[in-house]
Amino acid sequence: MSKVKLAPSILSADFSCLGQQVEACLQEGCEFVHVDVMDGHFVPNITMGPVIVGSLKPILVKYNAVMDVHLMISDPDKFIEDFAEAGADVITVHVESCGNLDETVGKIRTLGVRPGITLNPGTKIDKIATVIPYVDLVLVMSVNPGFGSQHFIPQSMSKIADLRRILNEIGSKAELEVDGGIKETNVKSVVNAGASVVVAGSAIFNDKKSIQNNIAEIWNAADV
Ligand code: DX5
Ligand code: ZN
Repeated sequence: MSKVKLAPSILSADFSCLGQQVEACLQEGCEFVHVDVMDGHFVPNITMGPVIVGSLKPILVKYNAVMDVHLMISDPDKFIEDFAEAGADVITVHVESCGNLDETVGKIRTLGVRPGITLNPGTKIDKIATVIPYVDLVLVMSVNPGFGSQHFIPQSMSKIADLRRILNEIGSKAELEVDGGIKETNVKSVVNAGASVVVAGSAIFNDKKSIQNNIAEIWNAADV
């Protein structure tokens, strides 16, 4: 089995030295950088916008890394172009925030960006079934969106396995990404359930150990 891709979530990074911290992750071989965009409306937190994507883009280009933008915002259609302009490689939208999912996914693709779809822990897979064949990434939220450092919701495991089965059945090459509460203690089960990309924020950016050490621990624990 190929090595699971690691997507550090910069939400937990030290923003006073964000560029250095992102570069440290890419030097360790991380292929994605996960950018959690929140508007204080769709979720009760406000985080970052296109300016952060634009500032980090030159670093990611240097390492050929994927700018993985997760939009936890109401009416994402209004901001897709700004994130595409700023350098997003993947833009993932919540089914719960889209009025016309097919249209939004099509708009992202038309801008030359890879479309992703995601669903909250309480949302059933059938809500995204129609667009799964048309996206390049399906993101399973294993926490309720809004904050880092939450606990992994165990029921997410069956959703990951169900989506892995669906993607395999339709012959989709889409990434299956899992986001929220990923630690070295659960990453192996998440990968075994079918994840190809795992997001980790507080497990990578914390004051207990270095970024290098934390990344190595997660990859060793994933052991695939
Ligand atoms: C939560 C975000 C996640 C979060 C992950 O709304 O989508 O990406 O930052 O952080 P950890 O890994 O600490 O749960
Ligand atoms: Zn996220």
